[in-house]
Amino acid sequence: MQGHKKLGMKKAAVGMKPSADNNLQKIQDIKQARQLLQKYSQTWEKLPDFGMGAHVRIISNILVIRRLEQELEKPDCAPYEFLSALLQEQIAFMTSLQKALPAIGFAQEANPAGRLLEDRNYDDKKFQEIYRDLWSKFDVPLMDSFSKRISKRLLGVGITKDFFKDKKVLDIGYGSGVYSVYAATSGAKFCLGVDPNAFNLKHAKGWATSVGVDAKCHFQIGSAYKIKSKSDFHDFAICSGVIHHLEQPLMGLKEINRVLKDGGNFLMIVEGKGGLFHDVCDAIELLWRKRSPDSVKKILEEYHISPNTFAFFIDSFFTQYHRKTINGYDRLLKLAGFEVLKIYRYAPLRIPFPYKEGTNFDACFGDGNLCILCKKSKV
Ligand SMILES: C[S@@+](CC[C@H](N)C(=O)[O-])C[C@H]1O[C@@H](n2cnc3c(N)ncnc32)[C@H](O)[C@@H]1O
Repeated sequence: MQGHKKLGMKKAAVGMKPSADNNLQKIQDIKQARQLLQKYSQTWEKLPDFGMGAHVRIISNILVIRRLEQELEKPDCAPYEFLSALLQEQIAFMTSLQKALPAIGFAQEANPAGRLLEDRNYDDKKFQEIYRDLWSKFDVPLMDSFSKRISKRLLGVGITKDFFKDKKVLDIGYGSGVYSVYAATSGAKFCLGVDPNAFNLKHAKGWATSVGVDAKCHFQIGSAYKIKSKSDFHDFAICSGVIHHLEQPLMGLKEINRVLKDGGNFLMIVEGKGGLFHDVCDAIELLWRKRSPDSVKKILEEYHISPNTFAFFIDSFFTQYHRKTINGYDRLLKLAGFEVLKIYRYAPLRIPFPYKEGTNFDACFGDGNLCILCKKSKV
């Protein structure tokens, strides 16, 4: 056990063992972090789900994910050791709090009205509800930073600004409208955005207007399952952050394929499977599953956590991710009539693009986040 290790402590560079030993040590570190993650979840579950207990549960989760992210963003990060130490710290804190509760006089039974439990089953309807008015919470600086990230993702699969010239673009699940606006400012003939959320219309239109491309952006209420475009119509389609949430991804992809011209390109941006970071996200998502977003929102507001950050947590922990491996996505795309041309793997968060070459990527992020550029294949 490495319980004595301090947070952020790095392995000594001097006297490093040969690489086989390092790999073994790394496997042990990952195993330990996984075990502690399980213990952390069990300890968390023992805290009361109301009042102080509910606050500590939520704040502890946020603290774990945020501090892990900060560590991962360092070029010389030691993610597994860091996570283990962090979880041990939180387990110790929650255990001591749990023991102290009777001494404080904390009620053992929650007022049923105060309980925040909600049984959440995941389906497309829930997915849509969660994103209801999320984007309207994003301020201009955040939208600006999104736009900057986009060009890096597109360049990763070789798409430069010229690529969009005179193209009829489709943006499925446009959300904030950031990709549609990017396509329009890059010279697209027009961009049709489709999203089931009526709230998104106002936000995306506002963003397009502020950038001066509202005449070229047409935002529509609709779904990936039924796109109101003629068959073989669009030159290029993009679908970012949607397919991994859908109940029926194949059905959505087939519909996208239908409206694309023969040989037209499709860019799918999804999350890959695996890695310690995803394990932590999944554990928190499981812990939050019984809570309504509004109940968490109330707690976060009391701590003056910004709307942008709140939106990030909602996106990460209230929607279910059906992540797949690269091969899994490849198979799915083939079934839908696409040929995969290029895949760009990148790390989430604010980690530099591409993630620093080295050994941590796979173990931290599994297959990573994926930009998959495809072509509609001839049927
Ligand atoms: C994570 S957001 C992605 C937004 C945007 N594409 C981006 O990358 O910033 C997921 C979006 O998918 C939309 N969505 C939910 N169900 C959908 C469906 N059946 N078809 C198309 N979009 C859907 C949600 O309303 C939400 O705006």
